[in-house]
Amino acid sequence: MRIDAVTIFPEYFAALDISLLGKAQENKVIEFNAIDLRNYTQDKHRTVDDSPYGGGAGMLMKPEPWGEALDELLNPDGSTVLIVPSPAGELFKQATAQDLSTKEHIVFACGRYEGIDQRVFDWAKDKAEVRLISLGDYVLNGGEVAAMAMIEAIARLIPGVIGNADSLVEESHSSGLLEYPSYTKPAVWRDLEVPEVLRGGNHAEIATWRQEQSVSRTKAVRPDLLP
Ligand code: ADE
Repeated sequence: MRIDAVTIFPEYFAALDISLLGKAQENKVIEFNAIDLRNYTQDKHRTVDDSPYGGGAGMLMKPEPWGEALDELLNPDGSTVLIVPSPAGELFKQATAQDLSTKEHIVFACGRYEGIDQRVFDWAKDKAEVRLISLGDYVLNGGEVAAMAMIEAIARLIPGVIGNADSLVEESHSSGLLEYPSYTKPAVWRDLEVPEVLRGGNHAEIATWRQEQSVSRTKAVRPDLLP
């Protein structure tokens, strides 16, 4: 899979070169590029913003540099998914990550200021699958941090990115429930004991206990996830 992120702050994406995603890039399982939007400006000040028509606070990103960048980046066969991180978008979920992990090319359009001129998306929808996606009901300063979170959630589902594929099976949200609590050695730490059932070695009992813990934890903190 190839992932491109268009941004005025390409430095944000340096973290993708470390740990598992760094290894995945070295192994050519994923290719990642952070692209500076200002490279697609025409004026000497490399301007990317302007005031909004109709008034209102703040500045908006001009369409021209986005058009130039996307002309170059979108696959001509329409196979690119263009993701616009935005608090006004559909909610990003594990199922969204799963769906996106099967795509061959994703471009993240990371807006700053009050966002990007709407015509960029109206134009792009004939050239790519355009999706406005929100990380949650809060506002970030720009799309970069949201894009980073989405990239990590998507990339770790691509076969070969995570060494132990089994660890993807029992984690939070993979089954629709939150994950059960986990423990390692020592068996007693600061007077706190690892639950007896986990030390007994009865796999059926352990599976039942974990399922009950998942359900009670989900009921307590995320009842909206239960059927
Ligand atoms: N940009 C600003 N806030 C955001 C959010 N909550 N999700 C995605 N992108 C954003």
